[in-house]
Amino acid sequence: MAREFTRVGVVGLGTMGAGIVEVFARNGVDVTAVEISDAALERGRVTLTGSTDRAVAKGKLAEADRDALMSRVDFRVGLGALHDVDLVIEAVPEHLDLKQRIFAELDRVCKPDAILATNTSSLSVTEISVATTRPNQVIGIHFFNPAPVMKLVEVVRTVVTSAEVVADVEALCERLGKVDVTISDRAGFIANALLFGYLNHAVGMFEARYATREDIDAAMKLGCGLPMGPLALMDLIGLDTAYEILDTMYRRGGRDRRHAPAPLLKQMVTAGLLGRKSGRGFYTYERPGSPKVVADEHTPVAAEAAVADGARAVAKVGVVGSGTMATGIIEVFAKAGYEVVSVTRGAEKSAKVCEAVKTSLNKGVVRGKLAETDRDAAMGRITWSATLEHLADVDLVVEAVVEELSVKKALFASLDEICKPGVVLATTTSSLPVIDVAMATQRPADVVGLHFFNPAPIMPLVEVVRTIRTSAETSATARAICAAVGKTGVVCGDRSGFIVNALLFPYLNDAVKMLEASYSTADDIDYAMKLGCGYPMGPFELLDVVGLDVSLAIQRELYLELREPGFAPAPLLEHLVTAGYLGRKSGRGFRDHTNR
Ligand SMILES: NC(=O)c1ccc[n+]([C@@H]2O[C@H](COP(=O)([O-])OP(=O)(O)OC[C@H]3O[C@@H](n4cnc5c(N)ncnc54)[C@H](O)[C@@H]3O)[C@@H](O)[C@H]2O)c1
Repeated sequence: MAREFTRVGVVGLGTMGAGIVEVFARNGVDVTAVEISDAALERGRVTLTGSTDRAVAKGKLAEADRDALMSRVDFRVGLGALHDVDLVIEAVPEHLDLKQRIFAELDRVCKPDAILATNTSSLSVTEISVATTRPNQVIGIHFFNPAPVMKLVEVVRTVVTSAEVVADVEALCERLGKVDVTISDRAGFIANALLFGYLNHAVGMFEARYATREDIDAAMKLGCGLPMGPLALMDLIGLDTAYEILDTMYRRGGRDRRHAPAPLLKQMVTAGLLGRKSGRGFYTYERPGSPKVVADEHTPVAAEAAVADGARAVAKVGVVGSGTMATGIIEVFAKAGYEVVSVTRGAEKSAKVCEAVKTSLNKGVVRGKLAETDRDAAMGRITWSATLEHLADVDLVVEAVVEELSVKKALFASLDEICKPGVVLATTTSSLPVIDVAMATQRPADVVGLHFFNPAPIMPLVEVVRTIRTSAETSATARAICAAVGKTGVVCGDRSGFIVNALLFPYLNDAVKMLEASYSTADDIDYAMKLGCGYPMGPFELLDVVGLDVSLAIQRELYLELREPGFAPAPLLEHLVTAGYLGRKSGRGFRDHTNR
């Protein structure tokens, strides 16, 4: 029989604590909610009221249920109020000495059989537990932000936590409608260990002016389907909390440089820019605590306005190549009303590409997304050719040939001879330096990267890669073109992995290293990222879809360019590739797909 929890205590009603109170009270559990002062208690009450009122306004909670929920919460100042609770969850700031002091006090105040839990994200639950006389009743219950929404709870057992306490807490999580993964006490547990290196890297990109905050966030949302971009997520977490988590992970987690907090974070925390809770972090919010972003001095002008910003007029587009990307890109431009010249290496290839474009457009017609007349008009705009000379009068060339530098360089040298002055020459390379391609021409200022995602007609993102020689006019033209074909163009520098792959693949590689270290299972790691962070797929699901060989190649490139020790490919990934386990395409990767 699992233990009954009739009254629980929550200590600290900040970003997490207020949400945790809501989770319990919504599920019929009485809560004693404790803060350090009357003012802090009032702030906590306002946060809880705001959140439940929003749920009522959205129709997700009945008014009567909201009132019942609020009536279950007893707001108090001081830990003394916790003498009769069955379980306490502590959610005060991420400082070991503070948490140890609170646990020593809870040990004195609480009933002898009460379970004492911490919501710490990165500190050692073991170190917190030894501040009490009952370390076997101390456990980590790590909720995710926002606690009422995110399904995951990481249950952290130390080497002394009793099995009964673990089982009771697991049953409680189930009662709260949460999915728990139970793990041992390691810095960052599963989700934060995989998340924070990525978040810190994104802050580093922003700090280095590699891309704007909007572009970094849009890239990860649109390129990977994440619910929020990394900088918006930092603001939600709270920059002070994020700083402490990174700092602890750096010290506890093997001094991985990727966890050394980006210097900008410290400056922002010192300046009081803590994210949503203070009304300003990477973005500016309507008021402290509000989720609504308002324009500030860094808000960019819309991409459409880039036309006025010196973008050149583009009416006719050349697309070189006959693979998946070229085919998709031809369709994108033709559908958007551009005249398109497709150049392949022969009539046979052209016929194949033509067929593929037609098939894809037909699918749109069958699904009712494209009128037959529009399909015919789009096909009518495309000219099929096997000679580069036909690109003499286009305004833009998009190259999507094989990913080999020598081939791309030779092609760009030819385009330089053939194309009229003022044409924008774009490469879709996903891994080669755009500057190498640009320098094969006499006009590097006109060369830019246009990194489409696969499948191009569907994926809403294009990375616009600006080299150190790309002119402002060329990148403005590239941005305007993205907008004209209905895509979001994000501008970034010419570095390995651009934005998306540079942020995504090290995270995937870290997940492989975590599995390799036997910290958790592929299933639990996938759950943790999906249910704790709202990712559409877990890292192992995604690796199997992308292909382990492709992932390894990208990770190697990143490691080679940046020489970051933490980017070294996981040996397990290398071994799986060597063994021919490449993911779905070979029937087996991290999982066996033959019977699925
Ligand atoms: N922010 C997140 O996204 C997130 C997610 C999961 C876990 N956590 C963890 O949750 C914990 C709390 O983080 P947060 O972001 O909610 O912090 P926060 O700064 O938003 O809130 C902390 C609250 O604790 C209160 N407090 C401080 N000392 C106290 C005391 N002695 N007694 C009672 N209350 C006290 C403060 O007044 C404040 O309201 C941390 O351990 C953090 O690592 C945070």
